[in-house]
Amino acid sequence: MSPTDGTAPQHQSGAATGAPEPVDPTAADLTAADLTAADLTGIGATAPRRPRAAAPGSPEAAQGQELLARYGESLMGVFGTPQRVLVRGSGSTVWDADGKEYLDLLAGIAVNALGHAHPLITSVVTSQLATLGHVSNFFTSPTQIALAEKLLELAQAPAGSRVFFANSGTEANEAAFKLARRNAGGDGAPRRTRIVALENAFHGRSMGALALTWKQAYREPFEPLPGGVEWVPAGDADALRAAVDETVAAVFIEPVQGEAGVRGYDDGYLAAAREITRAAGALLIFDEVQTGIGRTGSWFASEGVLPDAMTLAKGLGGGFPIGALVTFGPEASSLLTAGQHGTTFGGNPVATAAALATLHAIESGGLLGHVHRVGAQTADALRALDVVTDVRQYGLLLGFDLAEEIAPAVVTAALDAGFIINAPGPRTLRLAPPLNIAADQLRRFTDALPTIYRTALERTAKENA
Ligand SMILES: Cc1ncc(COP(=O)(O)O)c(C=O)c1O
Repeated sequence: MSPTDGTAPQHQSGAATGAPEPVDPTAADLTAADLTAADLTGIGATAPRRPRAAAPGSPEAAQGQELLARYGESLMGVFGTPQRVLVRGSGSTVWDADGKEYLDLLAGIAVNALGHAHPLITSVVTSQLATLGHVSNFFTSPTQIALAEKLLELAQAPAGSRVFFANSGTEANEAAFKLARRNAGGDGAPRRTRIVALENAFHGRSMGALALTWKQAYREPFEPLPGGVEWVPAGDADALRAAVDETVAAVFIEPVQGEAGVRGYDDGYLAAAREITRAAGALLIFDEVQTGIGRTGSWFASEGVLPDAMTLAKGLGGGFPIGALVTFGPEASSLLTAGQHGTTFGGNPVATAAALATLHAIESGGLLGHVHRVGAQTADALRALDVVTDVRQYGLLLGFDLAEEIAPAVVTAALDAGFIINAPGPRTLRLAPPLNIAADQLRRFTDALPTIYRTALERTAKENA
């Protein structure tokens, strides 16, 4: 099967999916299970089912603004004001509450690996939920076991390797942090009190993951954080070698730093980190939350270098929340013992079924090769543009720098032009589209970028005048 956009009808018949047949919403015996998301939110009910552009000034055109006003009165302001209210997606396309269409080149920040409303994910999640939704960690389920086995196979993990399931990237890193603390040394060896991370690293927002994260503005309001973490310049093997000795419990590395603007390292850096940590008895922990599950054109961006542990999330569930900590070999896998860590939701049947479906679709659709091809084509197209000064491409994780520091204005102009992109820095843009996005969809964006850039430049000049 060749890679496709995954565009599919949003609803399938109950017979094919195991989903309940449509019900009469006015029936007296209506239960929560009969309600659709639209019924529960009260949003879809008034959103156009076949979205179309709203006429300026029409009631439809006001819907997004009205919802954003309600958002402002009901949600905590940690994310600022959302750019749009999205109501529907299909493949790499999403629609907002006013019926405007966008090409989604961010995929929920590297999450929707198969785009939106992928038929396999939709049907697997629906039928799993209709069969068995949650069991707690007093029990297990076939999908949980099958997913752990599949991840160990894909990671080429040796015998004795294990998986712990969480619900997000930060939780996977939280588990990895606790794993590191258990690599404390003993039997007369010096105590391992230190953890080394890289400058510009991003590992998440919970207290342990935040303690590993480089940006001071993220950490400072929440201090004191778990201690013992220090940072060395990213990609500098000599600096890492100088920092790591028998007092270091673990070294945390993102194989490509996504939030820092999509920045990898010179060839050989990850292998050097492997050699340095092994010599010192420190754990090597790869944070593949953003880069894992085919994002870079390989199952894992660190492929070829086996760590002691690896964290995953984002793309793993194809849009359904799930995270994982994979430990390599019996030693790392026995550091956390019964009762030392846990989570209520982690590894539940629905999330693990969604992840199995995602891995199956990537594998059976030959998407890793597709990611390589269209990623390289997109990088070439970007490099050919005057307004782009540097391109860093790892499969379908692309960071590129602009001639001027107007990246946030370019994001806004792109949105107006129907493209969802992201600015991890003042002159840096990031693309992380669905892995099954079509080449011509990406081309549409690279063709439009010079005009979008000019619009952003003009608006910025006007604002500054
Ligand atoms: C490398 C990396 N680690 C961890 C996280 C945190 O993941 P989450 O937002 O799912 O908690 C992110 C999120 O952007 C990430 O990019």
